[in-house]
Amino acid sequence: MKKIIRKIIWGTTLNQEYICLPCNIVAHLSSVFLAKDGDRTADVNISDKHLFLGYKPVMIALRSVDVKNFNGGLLIRFSQNNCLLGTINVLPVRNAEYNWPEIILCQAIQGKSHLLPFPSIILSRLYDRLRYKKQGNISLPGNLYTQVKIAYSYPRKICLASLHENDLYNVFPTDLHGKIGGSKYYISLRTKGKACRQVLNLKQISLCEIEASSYRQAYGMGQNHMKNLRPASEFDYQSQYSSRYGNLLLPSVISYLELSLLDSVQVGIHTILKFDVVDSFQVKKGEPLMHIHRDYAAWREKNNIESKFLLR
Ligand SMILES: Cc1cc2nc3c(=O)[nH]c(=O)nc-3n(C[C@H](O)[C@H](O)[C@H](O)COP(=O)(O)O)c2cc1C
Repeated sequence: MKKIIRKIIWGTTLNQEYICLPCNIVAHLSSVFLAKDGDRTADVNISDKHLFLGYKPVMIALRSVDVKNFNGGLLIRFSQNNCLLGTINVLPVRNAEYNWPEIILCQAIQGKSHLLPFPSIILSRLYDRLRYKKQGNISLPGNLYTQVKIAYSYPRKICLASLHENDLYNVFPTDLHGKIGGSKYYISLRTKGKACRQVLNLKQISLCEIEASSYRQAYGMGQNHMKNLRPASEFDYQSQYSSRYGNLLLPSVISYLELSLLDSVQVGIHTILKFDVVDSFQVKKGEPLMHIHRDYAAWREKNNIESKFLLR
């Protein structure tokens, strides 16, 4: 019975809001395009040239070179196999607080989803309203949650950020991050989280790409965003340390970057942190971890696209 209700509300029986999958299905994934508002002829494929950097408001970073010939509003289209998954209208933020010439931060204004049939869109909206009221979660009112769902119709890689001060450590997952437009790396963390404060204080972190098989552990570490630094003995993988900064590494680490903080800007509930990539290390071969929103998972199921969902 529960499964039938889920199918009606969410278009799928999957009972998780965000669903992990390994990167090896990359040939069957969505693409992201930048278009002039109302004009499809000028589309630029920005699949690996955009970053999702916050969700209240939804922030998307684009390369300055890609935005050069566009004025005013921009349209970002998410599509797969000639099907439109959704669109997000964004406006470049001309913010005196950040002067990062290689990227343009854009704020989402309106999202339109084509992922679910209309009745499911209405029912899931009602469900979310009740749920957020009940749990006191961070609410994403109005069109915001739709924008977030569309942004997660392009898989976001989950990495682990690791830092330490003397013999006290923290390790936490991030999916709002990446490198575009040059050699700098960007990560977005909730301003009120302890993890954000720790990065701002310590300024040196290791960012680890991890094997998809460690998805349960990576999710479990979400709580570490709200935790203090603590001894290595409280983590169950204290044997490996990063070469330059001496941060803790998970056994499932595939590769890692040593990042040094250059600058930060607060946008809504997030702080976007800009880093220099000081070093990079390949530890072994492996299939990195990413995740998508359930609505896109439902779309994939409906369109019979093979997906190796890793259910927690
Ligand atoms: C896979 C994963 C990725 C996350 N990525 C980020 C991130 O990029 N930035 C951030 O501020 N928080 C991130 N978080 C933390 C969550 O937003 C949230 O703060 C944390 O899971 C604690 O949840 P709670 O406040 O509901 O207890 C991530 C959590 C998980 C599980």
